[in-house]
Amino acid sequence: MDSLLIKGGVPLHGDVTISGAKNSVLPIMAATLLTSEPCVIRRVPDLSDVSFMAKILTSLGAEVKLADGELRVRAKKIKPVGDYDLIRKMRGSICILGPLLGRLGHAQVSLPGGCVIGTRPIDLHLKGMRDLSATVTVDSGYVHVKAKRLKGADIFLGGRSGPTVLGTGNVMMAAVLADGVTVIESAACEPEVVDLANFLTKMGAQISGAGSPTITITGVKALHGAEHEVIPDRIEAATFAIAAAATDGEITIHGARPDHLSAVIDKLREANVSVERNGTTMKVRRNGRLKPVDITTLPYSGFPTDAQAQMMVLMTLTQGLSIISERIFESRFMHVSELARLGAEISIEGPSAIVKGGRKLSGAPIMASDLRASAALVIAGMAASGSTQVNRIYHLDRGYEKIDEKLRKLGARIKRVEET
Ligand code: EPU
Repeated sequence: MDSLLIKGGVPLHGDVTISGAKNSVLPIMAATLLTSEPCVIRRVPDLSDVSFMAKILTSLGAEVKLADGELRVRAKKIKPVGDYDLIRKMRGSICILGPLLGRLGHAQVSLPGGCVIGTRPIDLHLKGMRDLSATVTVDSGYVHVKAKRLKGADIFLGGRSGPTVLGTGNVMMAAVLADGVTVIESAACEPEVVDLANFLTKMGAQISGAGSPTITITGVKALHGAEHEVIPDRIEAATFAIAAAATDGEITIHGARPDHLSAVIDKLREANVSVERNGTTMKVRRNGRLKPVDITTLPYSGFPTDAQAQMMVLMTLTQGLSIISERIFESRFMHVSELARLGAEISIEGPSAIVKGGRKLSGAPIMASDLRASAALVIAGMAASGSTQVNRIYHLDRGYEKIDEKLRKLGARIKRVEET
């Protein structure tokens, strides 16, 4: 497995351009299954999760071409049964369930496993399908969903931890071809849900309210092909902004959507980091000494769970006490033990991490556990003195396009060591 070798202590300087959003492009790719006509998706990031989803679409019978950030899909004739092992390996692949059910009236998809950030159930996805009049059975590791005709319904999608992002997308994709009107209450409001709704609308779907907790979908007979450009990745932008602050550098982030990052920008400013917004550009640097801030992750427009680990690194570098509470996923603190290897002092009390910041971090070999934890460890390695080797970086390649190249351009001393 590849690793990253980082020589720390170099402030980041320069310009970086944000790629298309991973969490938008995956459901949008699934949505192409809703039509037999060709679809073109632009600003597609070069990520292993995207190649994986492309393989899943191909295994269902779609023609898929991916080159230079442009994806062309034609799902002329597709089958309802996905490759068991392919789907099981990537949680995001659950979002093929809604489009397959909507288009074919039948879908059989392997149950996505739990993952290192929690058990990650799909009960809300399945509740939504049942509410649309589908029968749902789980058998031999597969979920089977079936309906003669999907019928529009009032569907409440709030769970223990709030709304579900992929669940909202999945139900929306099934409902666009259902008979009648579907109203999703407690829908996720994330920009990625809005991006998916915009793509579906371009395909001929009738959707209103995306981005609010109530989404109304009026079913149509068929969808047609469409072209779409994916929104910029707000978590990638947040990661670079935090990295600039952590290394005491100054960077300009281009091609971003600062309006999708209000909670992150607000917390950075509270921590004494200057963020100048100008259209799609953000200029980030420290104002002086960092200040400790408390953070609670919440559904959008609250602070995103996907930027929690990175922000924790910034707080380990900040003199004082900060409390970081994780409200979305139950075990998303895997980075804590690895940060401790670099000298961070963090204790976990239930859903909160208490960070005693201001310790000097010094490099060590560390292990990436999930995508955002990996990004946090890379930031920590760049802020630490000496050398840090981040092992198992395949997680990073799932969700950050060419992160080592982008960081090198900003001056980071970071080298990919390929396993022989
Ligand atoms: N939940 C349920 N039942 C369900 C679905 C979710 O109880 O049927 C719970 C989850 O266990 C969690 C909460 O609801 O506690 C929210 O989960 P959600 O369904 O919103 O997460 P997701 O849609 O599976 C997406 C992103 C995640 C991101 C979350 C939250 C994709 C491919 N994944 O996951 O991204 O953290 O929304 O914003 O879109 C990442 O990019 O690193 C990542 C993990």
